[in-house]
Amino acid sequence: MTLLTLQPGGHTADVPPGTSLLDAIRSAGGALAGKCGGEAQCGACHVFVTEGRKGLSRLTSAENARLDTMVGVGSKSRLACQATLSGSEPVTVELLGALSG
Ligand code: FES
Repeated sequence: MTLLTLQPGGHTADVPPGTSLLDAIRSAGGALAGKCGGEAQCGACHVFVTEGRKGLSRLTSAENARLDTMVGVGSKSRLACQATLSGSEPVTVELLGALSG
């Protein structure tokens, strides 16, 4: 199992390797809206990965292309619907205004 921690709030979930980051965030109680069904189209699942970036799958070309069109994107940016947890290390993500407390 892989430990996912959400910030702000510090909510956590233990999820099996191979779980999408979007599903893992929802398991931890994060209210993250995915509006395109996980197709890397809407950008609504944009998060910052603050720790454990190596514990996630690599960026896909679709994810990279979508991130290129968005504002507020940085080196820690991922689309949660495109990233999966590999299980190699715990992951901490910062939700961008979607979760309070
Ligand atoms: S759910 Fe639409 S880009 Fe991730």
